[in-house]
Amino acid sequence: MRSLLLVVVLTLTACAQQPAKDDSLYRDLGEQAGITRIVEGMLLNIAGDARIVRHFENIDIERLRDKLVEQICVEAGGPCTYTGDSMEESHKGQNLTPSDFNALVENLQDAMTTQGVAIPAQNRLLARLAPMRAQVIDR
Ligand code: HEM
Repeated sequence: MRSLLLVVVLTLTACAQQPAKDDSLYRDLGEQAGITRIVEGMLLNIAGDARIVRHFENIDIERLRDKLVEQICVEAGGPCTYTGDSMEESHKGQNLTPSDFNALVENLQDAMTTQGVAIPAQNRLLARLAPMRAQVIDR
């Protein structure tokens, strides 16, 4: 009986120390399938965006798709692990400007709108990506 009590107490303590992860944004983005559609939509929009398409011409676009899906899944609180390079490393030498950054964000917003993601959820994702801006531009 005492050992049962101990197990109960330890379990409750563990739960208290690890509050359930908030995956509401992950769900609002449509989980894995929705995030994949958003990323592919963004890359298609970029393909037609004369402002920034040159940056994406000689890269492994499937790898970029996969790493972006992982990263957005993680940032949205989903059950994923990011396995790509750091933001500094992957944007080094691209000399990206604030305008390049804004153009990519517009393409992401358009892709989310096309997928039917509500504006508050869109803004929550953008707020989580915003801190990466400084790691991406002027590298
Ligand atoms: C918050 C903004 C951004 C995020 C979260 C982001 C995220 C990523 C990720 C996850 C990768 C893959 C890293 C890897 O391969 O391991 C990547 C690579 C890349 N990003 Fe970004 N990125 C951002 C902004 C931009 C902008 C503004 C541009 C250009 C307009 C850009 C162009 C690229 C290119 C061309 C690559 C491929 C580099 C290569 O394979 O050599 N990114 N980015």
